[in-house]
Amino acid sequence: ACLLLNLPLQAVLFLLGKPIVLPVNATRFMLPEHVGTDSAMATVGLSQDLFDSVLLLLQKAGTLNMDITGQLKSVDNPLNTSVLGQLIPEITHQFPKPMPVVLKVRLGATPVVILHTNNATLQLQPFVEVLAVTSNSAFQSLFSLNVAVNLSLQLSVSKVKLQGITSVLG
Ligand SMILES: *[C@@H]1O[C@H](CO)[C@@H](O)[C@H](O)[C@H]1NC(C)=O
Ligand SMILES: *[C@@H]1O[C@H](CO)[C@@H](O)[C@H](O)[C@H]1NC(C)=O
Ligand SMILES: *[C@@H]1O[C@H](CO)[C@@H](O)[C@H](O)[C@H]1NC(C)=O
Repeated sequence: ACLLLNLPLQAVLFLLGKPIVLPVNATRFMLPEHVGTDSAMATVGLSQDLFDSVLLLLQKAGTLNMDITGQLKSVDNPLNTSVLGQLIPEITHQFPKPMPVVLKVRLGATPVVILHTNNATLQLQPFVEVLAVTSNSAFQSLFSLNVAVNLSLQLSVSKVKLQGITSVLG
């Protein structure tokens, strides 16, 4: 990534309000020569250490956990027991009337970033618990899955924010 700098650089990266503490052997950030001219440009290298630290913090803070729900009150919620019942008939036996389904996605293992020449891959191993919302609004666990997914990670810089966009590989 390349960005134009117009700031005195004492960079401390923050995540969730806490400074990211890099390992002691992390490479120091160096300003390029010709600083002060209009065309001065700095290339920021994002190290494997930085990605590892950020992902560990995100995982420990639970930021990457999520609950996936459809519109619970909607009559045509696409996440429902009748869809799962087509794969697992026992679910239809338990829930003859379609009930909404909620997916609880939890990251137990820290995600891993693998840096390639032109892009990066993010490897996630979420634990997904599938629950039905029963008629008295209680949750009933149906089954759980260990999932492995590889995401392509595209990074871009906008103002002072570094942004990552992921898309599923394969
Ligand atoms: C269940 O989901 C399917 C598709 O995912 C949808 O067509 C159907 O309307 C849903 N049924 C209910 C009762 O929400
Ligand atoms: C990532 O870059 C490598 C070469 O460095 C290329 O082989 C691969 O197809 C690229 N993957 C994506 C998702 O762009
Ligand atoms: C993810 O990528 C790794 C390394 O390329 C590979 O060993 C693994 O099988 C992939 N997993 C999935 C679910 O595609």
